[in-house]
Amino acid sequence: MAKLWAGRAAEDTAKVADDFNSSIAVDSRMYREDITGSMAHAAMLSACNIISPADADAIIEGLESILTDLDDGTLKIDMEAEDIHMFVEQVLTERIGDVGKRLHTARSRNDQVAVDLRMYLRSQTVQVVEKLKTLLAVVAEKAEENVESIVPGYTHLQRAQPIRFAHHLLAYAMMLLRDVGRLQDAAKRMNQSPLGACALAGTTYETDRDFTAKQLGFDGWCINSIDAVSDRDFCVELLSALSVLMMHLSRFNEEIILWSSWEFRFVSLSDAYTTGSSIMPQKKNSDMAELIRGKTGRVYGDLVGTLTMLKGLPLAYNKDMQEDKESIFDAFDTVNMCLDVFIPMLKTMVTHPENMKKAAQEGFINATDLADYLVRKGMPFRSAYKISGSMVAYCIQKGTVLENLPLETYKQYSDLFEEDVYTAIDLVTCVQKRISQGGTSAESVQAQIQYVKENI
Ligand code: ARG
Repeated sequence: MAKLWAGRAAEDTAKVADDFNSSIAVDSRMYREDITGSMAHAAMLSACNIISPADADAIIEGLESILTDLDDGTLKIDMEAEDIHMFVEQVLTERIGDVGKRLHTARSRNDQVAVDLRMYLRSQTVQVVEKLKTLLAVVAEKAEENVESIVPGYTHLQRAQPIRFAHHLLAYAMMLLRDVGRLQDAAKRMNQSPLGACALAGTTYETDRDFTAKQLGFDGWCINSIDAVSDRDFCVELLSALSVLMMHLSRFNEEIILWSSWEFRFVSLSDAYTTGSSIMPQKKNSDMAELIRGKTGRVYGDLVGTLTMLKGLPLAYNKDMQEDKESIFDAFDTVNMCLDVFIPMLKTMVTHPENMKKAAQEGFINATDLADYLVRKGMPFRSAYKISGSMVAYCIQKGTVLENLPLETYKQYSDLFEEDVYTAIDLVTCVQKRISQGGTSAESVQAQIQYVKENI
């Protein structure tokens, strides 16, 4: 394909240089945005009397036909083209003749690529936010099913205090809600049109940037033309939001891997989202969860790659910036793939409250509640703490748990113990007594479920 920028050069570029320079393999996915952006630009040129209405109509019709043909596959993208912008313009001129050459008046590929990318990422963000909302609904549903499931809460991965499994799941719901907020914030800041900034300095034509910004659904236009074509901070912001999201998904999946192990058996994943081993017949591996955890590294790489690519660039556009798309597209693709598999995996995950309860009983996580019982009967906390500790040691030695000791044994440790000690150390009582706001009581957990549902 002949170069649209041919003119100055006396010699053709080398094939290896063309291949190296080309970005069409990556940016062809923005063809729709490129075409709609060009349609708006042509309409503006006509509205501002820069080109004639007849020329604008011919250009817009030509672009429409290209869009239809690309959508239905009649027109194939030429992978030899330099990029999607060059390809569309070239096909347009082939189809409508010299009029097509008027489209690039008062425009540069620098503002063109920036506007295409912002529009493309805007719809990608909407798509991920929708998926996150579906995920949040699934988390809320699982929480509702597990309000009565009591599980050890951990610190240092050591059993710490009993909690409702719903409470634990809802912690992730709060994180995911903030992920939605972060993506929406970044998308809002990104939604300013760079179109009309041209190469960097603006243009000698009397254009109307409001016109194109409105037509393309932007909230306004970038008020400094150099900034408009130079910065990719919106990519960095989206990549950070996606990295934080992946970090949350990774932790969640790490726990699912643990919970579904034989050591825990708190949950079972559906066979549809696990794999077997080629040698060990008993194995059921949580490959999907592991891959989500693993792919988190890719998204961090995309973020760091983009930050590094940008850090030394003088204003305004530099070709280095072509690398922005591969990273941000990879990050969105990865997040989309992860969510597509994680949502149904979580939905079909079965919980085993009996195993959760057993783990909660084995860890003496009611030892604090036992001490508190004595304190309520008048004993100073330090003395009560000591008695509770000695009783835990006794249980460990006898291979039993506090709940199973007879009252006579309790009495040997303190006269203050009465029949009501069993209620006081019952795991259900322990979680229900944690009545502070945001805590693990049923009321608090129900309020959290409500909050999530209202904010999806
Ligand atoms: N393919 C280029 C990119 O993605 C388009 C912009 C080219 N601009 C230029 N001045 N060479 O960045």
